[in-house]
Amino acid sequence: MTFRATILTLYPEMFPGHLGFSLAGKAMERGQWALDAVQIRDFATDKHRTVDDTPAGGGAGMVLRSDILAKAIDHVSTDDNRPRLLMSPRGKPLTQQKVRELALGEGVIIVCGRFEGVDQRVIDARGLEEVSIGDYVLSGGEPAALTLLDAVVRVLPGVMGNALSGTHESFENGLLEHPQYTRPQVFEGREIPAVLTSGNHAAIDKWRREEARGLTAERRPDLLK
Ligand code: ADE
Repeated sequence: MTFRATILTLYPEMFPGHLGFSLAGKAMERGQWALDAVQIRDFATDKHRTVDDTPAGGGAGMVLRSDILAKAIDHVSTDDNRPRLLMSPRGKPLTQQKVRELALGEGVIIVCGRFEGVDQRVIDARGLEEVSIGDYVLSGGEPAALTLLDAVVRVLPGVMGNALSGTHESFENGLLEHPQYTRPQVFEGREIPAVLTSGNHAAIDKWRREEARGLTAERRPDLLK
């Protein structure tokens, strides 16, 4: 089954961006996922193809019009029940659990916000689910949409080479990942921790669990609560 991502944006040229390369790019070539980027401006009605207007009540910036965006959304989602996401710093924070849930579905429709925001009425009327990728403000939702898709595509069935390689990484077990090492045995006087080359797999697992716990306690104590 092909996971279908439809992006509504004023900058369709930004897609597939980095997702055309590496793991995601190969998965796309194999037909495991597909992306189409729709130009919101194509649904404008005036000769200047205006998509935004000044905020009701005054204030800085411009607001994406509900009527134009609604037409764009209705154009792409008549016959499916893919979740409709709106990338926004006001959204619920994206988590690895949410990424896994989205990857189990048939795809996503993602609206990329621009300007100061999107008219609240189209968010309500089309049931847009606001998603944030972190507590900082980007100039538009496009890099956030690429980030979300990157995280989802890599966990689609059959995309990641080694089926186990996803299960020990950061967040999958509620902890940050333990440190990794590879050759050379000595780098600028720093050695690989001896336990990792001991061949004692029980000891290695224990060391990794302890490192993961210590790192998480130091950097992300919120994850341990
Ligand atoms: N658009 C602007 N900032 C964003 C953020 N932090 N997350 C998602 N979309 C955004």
